[in-house]
Amino acid sequence: MRTVPDHIPRPDYASHPEGEPLSERAMRGNNSIRILTDEEQEGVKQACRIGREVLDIAAKAIGIGVTTAEIDTAVYQACIDRQCYPSPLNYYCFPASCCTSVNEVICHGIPDSRKLEDGDIVNVDISVYYKGYHGDLNETFFVGNVDEKYKKLVKVTWECLDNAIKEVKPGVRYRDIGAVIQKHAQANGFSVVRSYCGHGIHQLFHTAPSVPHYAKNKAIGVMKPGHCFTIEPMINEGTWRDETWPDKWTAVTEDGKRSAQFEHTLLVTETGCEILTRRLEKDGQPHFMDQLK
Ligand code: MF3
Ligand code: CO
Repeated sequence: MRTVPDHIPRPDYASHPEGEPLSERAMRGNNSIRILTDEEQEGVKQACRIGREVLDIAAKAIGIGVTTAEIDTAVYQACIDRQCYPSPLNYYCFPASCCTSVNEVICHGIPDSRKLEDGDIVNVDISVYYKGYHGDLNETFFVGNVDEKYKKLVKVTWECLDNAIKEVKPGVRYRDIGAVIQKHAQANGFSVVRSYCGHGIHQLFHTAPSVPHYAKNKAIGVMKPGHCFTIEPMINEGTWRDETWPDKWTAVTEDGKRSAQFEHTLLVTETGCEILTRRLEKDGQPHFMDQLK
């Protein structure tokens, strides 16, 4: 487990022996959604902007023969350079600074010594804690030459997120987001992971609302200006069913087929939402699109 210099502000779980986020746990069962003040909105905006910079640095590190541990090192260093605490580090004892999820890994992959191979897809999930606020985003990247059928999986997954974001505005029910995602996934022959959801995010890493990515869910709450939350659909080639490795983190597809994911942190505005983790160059397009013909 890496250490973070003492002068960088850290979340409560960073120093807890079991990595327990006590401030988050105190809110368990409380479904009320915080409306962020102007000052709090500025805080999450800054964290999200830095999270985006860190993901862009991780993207540049990806290539054939690179290990996911090397990506993690680049992420850790980029966080420290920007006076950020990498939010995953020690969260319920998670042992790294980001999640790296290759091929059949759905999410929460632990960076390790495996070298990326030509044709892999790899999701890098970045969360940073800056001056008391978290920002959270992820993208799925191509390694070398990726088979057309996996390119389609990645492209459709990004479209699922994009379509969902277009729905976000005051008055919309959080439970209605999943239908938009499932419709587009299913129309393309893919399935939607059910075990992991989008989440509220601000001073707390994971809090209300819970935002399921599948249709006919029972999520609580209606969007209001000042709500801040993520949407992060995980879309599978085959079955939606997941299982967890004995490491207690790595979520994989039950059938071993591939899975892709994209995530943004969003702030609800009077008329829609602001994508706080948007890519600033390339007109907001995700990195994989640079490689699509
Ligand atoms: N960033 C992930 C999310 O989107 C959470 C990673 S926390 C970890 O919610 F501990 F699993 F790394
Ligand atoms: Co998230």
